[in-house]
Amino acid sequence: MVKIGILGVGTVGASVANILSSNADIIEARAGKKIVVELGVVRDLNRDRGVNIKLSSNPMDIINDETIDIVVELMGGVDEPFKLVKEALRRGKAVVTANKALLAYHRYELQELAGDIPFMYEASTAGGIPIIGALKNGLTANHIESIQGIMNGTTNYMLTKMIKEGANYDEVLKEAQRLGYAEADPTFDVGGFDASHKLLILASLAYGIDAKPEDILIEGIENITQVDVEFAKSFGYEIKLLGIAKKVDEGVELRVHPTMIDSNSMLAKVDGVMNAVSVVGDKVGETMYYGAGAGGDATASAVIADIIDIVRGNTTPMLGYKRGLEGKFELLPEEDIITNYYLRMEVDDKSGVLAKITTKLGEFDISIESMLQKSHRNASHVKLLFTTHKCTEAKIQEAMLELRRLDCVHGNITMIRIEK
Ligand code: HSE
Repeated sequence: MVKIGILGVGTVGASVANILSSNADIIEARAGKKIVVELGVVRDLNRDRGVNIKLSSNPMDIINDETIDIVVELMGGVDEPFKLVKEALRRGKAVVTANKALLAYHRYELQELAGDIPFMYEASTAGGIPIIGALKNGLTANHIESIQGIMNGTTNYMLTKMIKEGANYDEVLKEAQRLGYAEADPTFDVGGFDASHKLLILASLAYGIDAKPEDILIEGIENITQVDVEFAKSFGYEIKLLGIAKKVDEGVELRVHPTMIDSNSMLAKVDGVMNAVSVVGDKVGETMYYGAGAGGDATASAVIADIIDIVRGNTTPMLGYKRGLEGKFELLPEEDIITNYYLRMEVDDKSGVLAKITTKLGEFDISIESMLQKSHRNASHVKLLFTTHKCTEAKIQEAMLELRRLDCVHGNITMIRIEK
């Protein structure tokens, strides 16, 4: 028999405890041993968790219990779980976590500390989808060319509702919170930070890159409006919040941002709270992974798969490499990223305005691919919408600064990157 302790019995923790009991037969057959929850730790002992396990409010009751072999960390946050997980590893306990923020900041320190002690985290990225296992095991013969994915269910749910039903941003965010998809602080979802944590974990497995969220380009969906959604549709695009890791000649691009993608692509068809990740390997070609990226049972499914792997003795190096890659892949600086762009701006409805704008873009060698002007009756301003040919992030950012300085341009300019 293997005993586990669960730090944090919230939605996912309760599902872990309940599935270990409801699916005990198949789990024991697959693991080769019975797995039982010895203790769960919660902040408030008076709240009903809907579980039939012993509870304590002191995390050290799990860490100090010598009969507990595996610590399952489902608390959320960074500092407190980091302290507790380090303590568990020091005592030789295996760790399973779903905590993407902890890994986004501390995965290399934890790998160092874990050494040969199993440290698993399948549930941290894209919930129930076994994407960590795919990169750690199934695709190990390949150089990874790219990873592109919808890694945040809340924003995908919001964008789907906005695109398909014309729903209003604030209302649909409230709905995602009510349905329990959103993080405690939803700015983590809409601002792209949650997706960036997951992307960084995948980037370590694919490229051995030790980057932190502040090192990479992260933009959220806050500025997307119905005008952008309609423009995208009319030009054959869907807007998705993507996490992108891509090997280019000079390094590896890591970025999270709303992206216009071909509406016929598989990722464009992933709707609602679902997640999907496309991984391209140099030998296998494109592989796709699709499923529930959030929710108690789906996430618990990944947590329990890790527990079973540990019990079976199947352990792989925590971040996928037995030896370091010695700087083989470097993070490409943000300003060197090259892609196509969509720009939206409000301009005066006067002669000569278009010429001023296209001249300014020309000064930065930015070539326009398509353009649309939308006017409203009696309004003195019109909306100008462009897509550009490929150029660097540095050029588009400088051009936007200069465009904003023109008298004929009013307010902010919205930019959305396009992936072809
Ligand atoms: N808030 C996250 C999401 C939960 O919406 O995908 C899973 O990490």
